[in-house]
Amino acid sequence: MNCTREIAPHIVFVGAGDRRLALFENLFPLDNGVTYNSYLILDEKTALIDTVDASVQGQFLENVAAALGGRKLDYLVVNHMEPDHCAAIGEICLRHPEAKIVGNKKTFAMIGQFFPDDLSARFHEVGEGGTLALGKRRLHFVLAPMVHWPEAMFALLPEEGILFSADAFGTFGGSNGTLFSDEMDFEALYLDEARRYYTNIVGKYGKQVSVVLAKLEGAAPSLICPLHGPILRGSAIPFMVDKYRHWAGYEPEKKGVVIAYASMYGNTAGAAQIMADMLAKRGVADLRVFDASKTYCSYIIAEIFKYSRLVLAAPTYNMHLHASMEALLRDMAALNVQNRKAVVIGNGSWAPAAPKLMKAMLEEMKDMEVLGEPLTLLSSLKEAQLPEMEALADRLAL
Ligand code: FEO
Repeated sequence: MNCTREIAPHIVFVGAGDRRLALFENLFPLDNGVTYNSYLILDEKTALIDTVDASVQGQFLENVAAALGGRKLDYLVVNHMEPDHCAAIGEICLRHPEAKIVGNKKTFAMIGQFFPDDLSARFHEVGEGGTLALGKRRLHFVLAPMVHWPEAMFALLPEEGILFSADAFGTFGGSNGTLFSDEMDFEALYLDEARRYYTNIVGKYGKQVSVVLAKLEGAAPSLICPLHGPILRGSAIPFMVDKYRHWAGYEPEKKGVVIAYASMYGNTAGAAQIMADMLAKRGVADLRVFDASKTYCSYIIAEIFKYSRLVLAAPTYNMHLHASMEALLRDMAALNVQNRKAVVIGNGSWAPAAPKLMKAMLEEMKDMEVLGEPLTLLSSLKEAQLPEMEALADRLAL
């Protein structure tokens, strides 16, 4: 059975979703699956915008066949070559030997890397500002390097105000049947997952995202069709563009404090909780406390992007850091987290290396200010250290 939906006159959603996948990229937990979106334009020429992940290829092929209704496929537009979108290129090419593959130089290099057959005779190259005439419509291409891979590009139908935005504006989360953001409570259902998707998948490339956002100034799309999650329409468009400006610029969305700790026997956790209580008593309402050994990094990273301040607390381990905190800090550095104020609490029973190590790792990040000196615990927090902690809480609560 096909499962398609016309999203605009003669433009059909032909994607599919997967709720069985536990880890996206075998790394990021999926609480409720993910969708792989694909769109078919039926004009004088037909054009398929991207394919899908191998896991949903069967459904996708049924959808494409139903939407084509016996017509031939003229173009396969490849906006992104990551396998969650390109896996079905081989099968589409087999079923539609007449279809040209539309991409840029980098797209074609990757097709050669991923697929054994030589498809080069079918390549139709476009570049920045390139267009593809389909009949009444003409697709305009905008290169979007590093959003999320170097070959990524967007396709725009200016007259209809439709932007096919590849990974940008996508989100984790399966479909609830509704497809457009204004058919659902988009913010409640998808904002947290859109943030977790962006910050972990594209977070490193804020500069490049800002460049592409600037290129789209003036485009004023009325529909944004990403490769994952709902299609944005109405108020969700300015709402999400504003979120992207914050995330790409590493600007916090809100004042608030994320407290992330690693703890072996509860002493460091106890200190982190006392800090949370002190902040709450100072009126900090937006507080998020995470055990970095239990909560997957991607959730903590998303909250760190959201809020203005953070507290990191961890014990020393083998004269280095507890591995859970080390992983979080390395991920923060890899994703270019910057422009935050932080407090460090480090523990150690005989040679407490953690405070210095955490401070050093944070200070290597751009515009990351460590407030005061790290609080050093010798096995556990002592009554006599409370004033020092209160002083740090005062600075965080500003
Ligand atoms: Fe959804 Fe970068 O792939």
